Amino acid sequence: MKDRLEKTVNYLKNKGFESPQVGIILGTGLGKLVEHIDIEIEISYNHIPHFPTATVEFHQGKFIYGTLSGKKVVVMQGRFHFYEGYSLQDITYPVRIMKELGIEKLLVSNAAGAINKTFKKGELMLIDDHINLQGGSPLAFKGVSKLGERFVDMSAPYDKDMNTSFLKAAKTLGITLYEGVYASVVGPQLETRAEYRYLGLIGADAVGMSTVPEVIVANHLKLPVSAISVLTDECDPDHLQPFNVEEIIATATRAEPRLVKLFGELIKTL
Ligand code: HPA
Repeated sequence: MKDRLEKTVNYLKNKGFESPQVGIILGTGLGKLVEHIDIEIEISYNHIPHFPTATVEFHQGKFIYGTLSGKKVVVMQGRFHFYEGYSLQDITYPVRIMKELGIEKLLVSNAAGAINKTFKKGELMLIDDHINLQGGSPLAFKGVSKLGERFVDMSAPYDKDMNTSFLKAAKTLGITLYEGVYASVVGPQLETRAEYRYLGLIGADAVGMSTVPEVIVANHLKLPVSAISVLTDECDPDHLQPFNVEEIIATATRAEPRLVKLFGELIKTL
């Protein structure tokens, strides 16, 4: 993996991805942050050597470099999911690349279902901890110890200082920001009523199909990471409505301006 990483990083550095300070991964339906970036370079994933090959539905995936809130940022507009058939190592390859490019902090966003019955759809949740239900680890491969420790500490996977700053920024901006535990499942099918019930019992406040692999790798790289879920649906097993993808995207779109403000405000403090 080391050789591949070097080739990808050299390609991006030659294109001008010089010393970004902050990395950002944008989740499904959450691409608008890009409109606030003073963009210098954007490259479609298909053109980046050794990047996972983009699927058809994913042809919009882009790596973006520019300035946001006075900081140099590298942004993934669109991420890779386990349910698309990529390996967990592939999904997290861009995190390793961003770290090699020089980022000091990583911010992640996703769309998630609300398990906690007091949490309302359309609101945001700061991830305080997670439960990995994807049945595998992005660190379970032969060469992992060449890239960092094998037995990575996960006692505090989300950066305390950044999370505190997020809560302060939310207060300043008057934005509701819940805190909770995110459970990651493989998908792409949604959960059954029994599964939502189970997720609540084991301590999850939200459920989604991403983020955890990237956060595990950020911890492997000792890269401080924070993540925010946009709650797009309420997963109450006793009153469960059929899943409606258009409604999910519409809810994400409604919440997006708050996420954008929050990210912008937080980046000022880094
Ligand atoms: N389950 C899993 N992933 C999701 C959900 C959900 O209910 N909502 C948005 N992403």
